[in-house]
Amino acid sequence: MKLRTVVIPVAGLGTRFLPATKTLPKEMLPVVDKPLIQYAVEEAWAAGMERIVFVTGRGKKILEDHFDHNPELEEALLARGKDTLLAEARSTIPQPAGTLLYTRQNQPLGLGHAVWCARHVAGGEPFAVILPDDLIDTGGGKPVLQQMAEEFDRLQTSIVAVMAVEPWQTSKYGIVAPLNREEIDAHCIQVNGLIEKPLAEAAPSNLAVIGRYILMPEIFQYLERKHQGVGGEVQLTDAIAALLEKQAVYAFRFQGVRYDCGDKVGFQMANISLALQRPQLRDQLLPLLQEQLDRYHHQPSAVEE
Ligand code: G1P
Repeated sequence: MKLRTVVIPVAGLGTRFLPATKTLPKEMLPVVDKPLIQYAVEEAWAAGMERIVFVTGRGKKILEDHFDHNPELEEALLARGKDTLLAEARSTIPQPAGTLLYTRQNQPLGLGHAVWCARHVAGGEPFAVILPDDLIDTGGGKPVLQQMAEEFDRLQTSIVAVMAVEPWQTSKYGIVAPLNREEIDAHCIQVNGLIEKPLAEAAPSNLAVIGRYILMPEIFQYLERKHQGVGGEVQLTDAIAALLEKQAVYAFRFQGVRYDCGDKVGFQMANISLALQRPQLRDQLLPLLQEQLDRYHHQPSAVEE
């Protein structure tokens, strides 16, 4: 079974970034100079995905335009001989044409429902899911979806990306229960159960699902049930847990640093960290960071106040 489709849910409202996201889709927020959605699409292309399905919603049209030609801009850059910028502007255009597909989730019923909305395009074969809020920096190494696609070649079954979190953070994530406790430190762990956003006391491990999945098409049979889970939403985690009655599921510890760009702090961390990787930006940013460090070093944090 070859993996060739990736589903990218982009219908979320992005309320945590208001007022910036009042009219701007949160997926268009830039980390340094590239919108979040572009990181996700580039990761999909790097993993050899042949078609990308955006599950969009109202107010998300500029996402489609971002992955198309902008003739006025391109002509202007061409006339001025700005070849590098022209290449940047054109780098988002899918090759071949027609490999970016769009479907709409017309009600915010949860991540599971968003993925279900892609059933007619993704159905019938295994597919990947990327949540663009989860930006994972692999420092020039293999992007995470590529790491997972390689595991999939071997395992031929569903795989979720995981990372270890602190006990107080389990209520923010899907948490996996390993089948064998002894395997907990392995990089690929067979899963016995998944729970969406459990409190620390109820968490079966500290392994949190991060926004990269490879799913078998049978997942749609479970999403179809539209079971309402945590927050009254159709949870992808619950459908994967139900899939376990039929098929094996693995948790994959990826190589890379993950930034939660759906959160203000995570988003700023991603910007700082990725900007510092660029020598020209680093030279100008480091003195400022040093100055701020000296300034705030002895001040109590807002949490302690
Ligand atoms: C979603 C999933 C959750 C997963 C998380 C990863 O939650 O429901 O299982 O751990 O993404 O970022 P959300 O962040 O949408 O609340």
